[in-house]
Formats: sequence, C-alpha cells, structure tokens
Amino acid sequence: MKRIALFIVFIALISGLKLKADEGMWLPMYIERLNYTDMQKLGLQLTPEEIYSVNHSSLKDAIVGLSNSPNPEGYFCTAEIVSTQGLLFTNHHCGFDAVQKHSSVEHDYLADGFWAMSRAEELPNEGLTASIMIRMENVTDSIIPQLNDTMSTSERSEVAGKIIKRLKKANNEDGKYNVVIKSFFHGNEYYMFIYQVYKDVRLVGAPPSAIGKFGGDTDNWMWPRHTGDFTVFRIYTAPDGSPAEYAEENVPLKPKYYLPISLDGVEKDDFTMIWGFPGGTERTLTSSGVQYNLDNYYPPIIEGLGAKLDVWRTHMDEDKEVRIKYASSYAGIANGWKYFIGQAKGIRDLDVVGEKKAFEGQFTAWVNLDEERKDRYDSVLTTIDDIYKDRAPGVVPLIYASLAGIGGAGIVDYASEFNGLQALLQQQKEEKDKSKKAKKQEQIDKAVAGLKESAAKHFKNYDLATDEEVLAVMTQLYLDKLPANLHPEYLTKLIEKNDNDMYALSAYIFENSFMSDQNKVISFLDDPSLKVLDKDPAYQLMQGFMQKMMEAQANYKRHSNEMKKAERLWVEGIRKMQPDKTFYPDANSTMRFTYGTVQDYDPKDAIHYDYVTHLSGVMQKEDPENDEFIVPAKLKELYETKDYGPYANEDGRMVVCFLTNNDITGGNSGSPVINAKGELIGLAFDGNWEAMSSDIAFAPKLQRTIVVDARYVLFIIDKFAGAGNIVDELTIHKTLPQPVRSEIPEPVAPVLSE
Ligand code: ARG
Repeated sequence: MKRIALFIVFIALISGLKLKADEGMWLPMYIERLNYTDMQKLGLQLTPEEIYSVNHSSLKDAIVGLSNSPNPEGYFCTAEIVSTQGLLFTNHHCGFDAVQKHSSVEHDYLADGFWAMSRAEELPNEGLTASIMIRMENVTDSIIPQLNDTMSTSERSEVAGKIIKRLKKANNEDGKYNVVIKSFFHGNEYYMFIYQVYKDVRLVGAPPSAIGKFGGDTDNWMWPRHTGDFTVFRIYTAPDGSPAEYAEENVPLKPKYYLPISLDGVEKDDFTMIWGFPGGTERTLTSSGVQYNLDNYYPPIIEGLGAKLDVWRTHMDEDKEVRIKYASSYAGIANGWKYFIGQAKGIRDLDVVGEKKAFEGQFTAWVNLDEERKDRYDSVLTTIDDIYKDRAPGVVPLIYASLAGIGGAGIVDYASEFNGLQALLQQQKEEKDKSKKAKKQEQIDKAVAGLKESAAKHFKNYDLATDEEVLAVMTQLYLDKLPANLHPEYLTKLIEKNDNDMYALSAYIFENSFMSDQNKVISFLDDPSLKVLDKDPAYQLMQGFMQKMMEAQANYKRHSNEMKKAERLWVEGIRKMQPDKTFYPDANSTMRFTYGTVQDYDPKDAIHYDYVTHLSGVMQKEDPENDEFIVPAKLKELYETKDYGPYANEDGRMVVCFLTNNDITGGNSGSPVINAKGELIGLAFDGNWEAMSSDIAFAPKLQRTIVVDARYVLFIIDKFAGAGNIVDELTIHKTLPQPVRSEIPEPVAPVLSE
C-alpha cells in the first residue's frame, strides 16, 4: 500500500511539474517530438499534423509576420488570418503607425477609429508587408561541420555567411520566396525559414484609441488591464493569387488556412497556445551581463528617452495637430522607456543576478569534475565577465552621445540624410574629367530625387516648435553627461555665441538652417550647393555629433568576436551539463509557439489578481479629465443597456482581457491565443509589471501574458462600430447550448474537425 501511495505521489509530482511547463518559445518543426505529449496533457485536442505540416494546410499557415521591409529578416508584430478572404487580426498598437499615417486633424482615425464598411474603403499602407511561413529546416549540418574551433570568429562567420548565401539562393525558387537563415543557441545551430511575402496589406478597421489604447502608458505593461488592443487588416494578392505590390485590381488573399473564433471564453487552467514571432530574449545572459546592464545600460537609456518624451508630451498636450503627428513615435518610445524601467526593477526585485550566480556556481562545479570539460569551458565565464568589465566605462558616454546627440532632435537626425549628397557634391567638385563629372551629376540627381521624397515624409510628422525645444533639452543633456573632449567644437562655439543659453542656441539653428523648413529644403534641392550645405548650422552640428559619436565608439571596447565565441561555448556547456532538459532557443524573430494555461497570480503579499477583467472595470477606471481613461459614450451606452449580443460571458458580463502563463515577448504582439480545439480565443498584447525581467529570466510564478478576449474584439467590431461586414466574414464557434444570434453566419467551411 505504502509503495503504491508513494508511487502515486511520485507520479503526481512528475505530472505536476509537467503541468507547469509554460516556459519556452518552441520551434514549430519539433512540436511532435518535443512538446506534443505535454500539450495533450494540458488539454490540446488537435493532432501535430493539424498544427504544423509542410504537406497539408495547417494552423501555422494562418500565422503572419508583419514588417516594414519587402524582404524581412524579422517582424515587428504578429497577425493571424481569420477569414477565407485574407482578413487579419493584430493589435491596435501594431497597426498604430499605419492608422497614424492615415490620420489628420480632419480625419483623426487615432481618436475616432476607422472602419471600412466595404472593400473599396480599405486603406493601403505603403511598405507594410505580411509574411507567411512555407516551411522551416534545420540546416546546422550544412554549416557547423564546415566550421572549427581553430577558426577565428570572423573566419567562422565568413564561412557560415558563404554557405548561408548559397542555401538562400538554392531555396528561394528564383526569387519567389524570402529565405531567412539564422543562428540559434548562440551559434550552435542554424535554421532556415522560407516565407511568402505579401506586399499589399490594407487597413480594414481600428477602434478609437479610447478603446484600443485604453489605459495608455499608465496601464501599459500592467495588469489588471482593460484595453481593446486590436486592429484589422487584409492581405491582397494579384488576381492569380501571387504576392503583388498595391494595385487596384488586386484581390483578397485566399489563404491555405484561417482560424475559427470561439465564443466560449476561458476558465482557469484552460489550455492555451500562442503562435508568433517573438523578437528577442537573452535568457542565457550571465550574471555579469545582467549586472552590466543594471549599472551601465538602463540608466542612460531611461534618462535619455525620458527627457525627449517629456518635451514631446508638453507639446502634444497643447496642440491636437502635434498630438497626431507625434502619436506613433511617442507611443513607441514610451513603450520602450517603461520597458527598461520595469526590466531594471524586475531584475532587482527578483534577484536575477543572485539566481544566475547560483547557476553559474553549479556550472563551475560541473566543469571542475572533468579534465576535458576544464579544457573547454574553464575560462568561459571569466572571459565573459572580463569583457563586460572592459566595456563598462565606454558604454555610458556612447549611449548618451547617441541618444542626446545624433538621435536627439529630429533636425539633427534629418541632417544626416544629407550625408550622401554632401559626399557626391564634394566628389564632383574635385573631379577634373568632364565625362566623369557628368556621371556624378546623374548620381547627384538621383540623390536629390530621393531627398525630395524623404522630405515629404519627414515634414509630414514634424513640428518645428516641438523639435526646437527637443534640441535645447537634449543638447543640455549632452553637455551635462559627456566629458568636454566629446563636445563637438562647433557646439562649443555656438554655446559661447549664445551665452550658454540652450534655447537661444536652438533658436539660432532653427532660424538659420534650411532643414527646419520644407520649402527651404526643396529650394536647396532644386539647386544643391556644397557651400550652402557645409555651412548649414544643423548640418554642422550633426557632423560634430557624428564625429564625437565615432570617437565614443572607438573608446567602447566591443570584443564582439571573443564575446561571440565565449557565449557559444557557454550555451554549449550549459546544454551538455543538463542532458535531460529540453532546451528552446532564445527568441530571434523566427516563428515560435508557446503553450500553457489560463492563470491568475499573486503579485505581492496579500494581493491576488484574478485572470479576467470586465467592461465594468473600464467604467471604474473612467476619468474624463485624463485622455488615457476616457470612455466613449457609445461604449457606456452598450454597457448600461447590457447590449452584448452573443459576446457576453456565461455570467452575462462582458470580459475584456484575460491572463495566461504563456512565454512571449515583444514581436508576439498581435499573436493568436488558441484554445484546445484550435480556435482563436484572444490576441496576446502585453506582459505584466511584476515579471518585466522575463526576457532575461523566466519567472514562472509571476510571469503572465495579457490577452484581449476575442469576444471583446467581436463585440467592439459588431456592436460598437456596427461593422457587421467584418463579422460576416468570420467563422464563429459556440459550443454552449445558448441561442446564438441569428446574424452570425454559419461556419462557412469548418476548418478543423471538431
Ligand atoms: N507593452 C506592449 C508591447 O510592448 C505595447 C502596448 C502598447 N500600449 C501602450 N499604451 N503603449 O507589446
């Protein structure tokens, strides 16, 4: 009896451990071998083939990487296909930039939302691309055997680079596909990803910011959350179904697969999986690396970004036009700024350094047990530690020089766009040969045409008064933070001339530079003169900053080659040390999935956080005085009349967001959260404050993914926006024996066997 009891306890322990398996951003091609049994235990009902198949359509065909590049190597967000007509769901903050670009004071889609009531009203977005993965392959064996330990890191990357180039060529099918090959586990493995890239992606619908960004920067990175963080796009193709640039004749994509949407909602412990393109994690960063970040990296970044945001905020609050122009840039920087603050705090609160040190102690003990190991790994950690020590003094000035100098005011950054033209004008001047001079002129004309185009883009989202103050504030920061030898000579002269008054200095630049005015830029470009450019104060200041930045860079000892080698060995070693552990590679903007369950958490002593939030919570947070917490009248009306249609929870309430313990990071934004039956139940959009160190160390007890419930998304589209045209395209499942509203279409073609 006793034995059996013990056995049961043992099994419970084992399965208990398994049930907590929420950490990991897994590679799709290994789902069957590494994860499937675990996933089944958690409740998954699909077969591995239904999820990832190269031969048949499968769930992975509905996962989309969003990028602003025609041949992306990475993705800023994830989206998912939800209809037979190429309809995409992603986050509001992922579509924010596109919505901003279409917005003006007259058509303020940021504030009012945007809904295309027909295909003809959908808005094209220049440059936005949607990538769908065809297949992936482990190409380690084509690369690693050609490398050896006697090669220097640069030799290694040269050899690897050549093979990668060849593999790309062999697999792109005459340019049909975008082939991406990346190193994994810090250079210990290589994988190839083959994508179809669609180039006509149109905006279909976005809620007003008062819903899509409800809670603003105050609630960002935090739970409890009440944000309807979603936006709707559509992929278009050429009439024959192939990817094509925007053209009127294009037609909606006929996808291989799309996700049905469930109205069943979630309960604690329900299975969830999330698919997408997590951007980057550094889970194997050493304790010395974490300490280096705490001491040298976060403080200047937080100060530099914060200083600029303060100025922007003041001007945005004063003027609606400025608010629209800077909305997207502000949101992006504010998001990063709060991320770094949270990460630094999380690392301290959770003693990540201590935890990593303990692990490194185990590693050292393991190494010392064996002579061969000693030979290979003995100096790995000390090498890494020494490199960080060496880097530390140089990195702070470099960060300030880049954030407050060249990356400070918009006008300085803009001036750097004229560097190419300057070089050409200079070369032309020095050229004696007539025909060569004429050739140069062709290049100059081309550069001028490019600059005319970029001028339109630059000034569209530019406010003079705002940037003039940014220049004053950031220049002051530059002077305060950097030693005199890094102050550009030209700047020192200007300071003297303006009696140490940064505002006067900035005013001088803005008055005398042609780069502060679009018309002046165009007249300059109509007849570009080297003399005028070289004398321009914004251009001179930029050049001064640039030169000093290069000096700062030279002082910053990178040791990137030695570091790469040490990190490769470090990761190799920790994998060898734990032969029974299943490892997942750090995120690197390649397709991954993570699985787990719906979970609540206890953020602090005596505080418990539930795993769902409701529309009532939106009303509780309402503050008409604070633009982050304004509640649209229509939403209040729907709340008061409880007009939720079929989207209400079982208890009659409207769920807004929920939590899972999946392992995600930036780039996963917009990712589908999928239930045990393969149905979409929400869109992942954030992480939580108590686990902001998660990109460096997973925190199982605290780390949660914040999800906007699919039912809230549909409720906003249908009831709030009245965009029934969008809802009509979706395949909506509801298994509970409750009357389903008649407007909801029958599933067109059941995508998955239920
Ligand atoms: N923290 C989220 C992420 O990085 C972005 C949320 C956007 N919301 C906001 N208020 N800025 O994915």
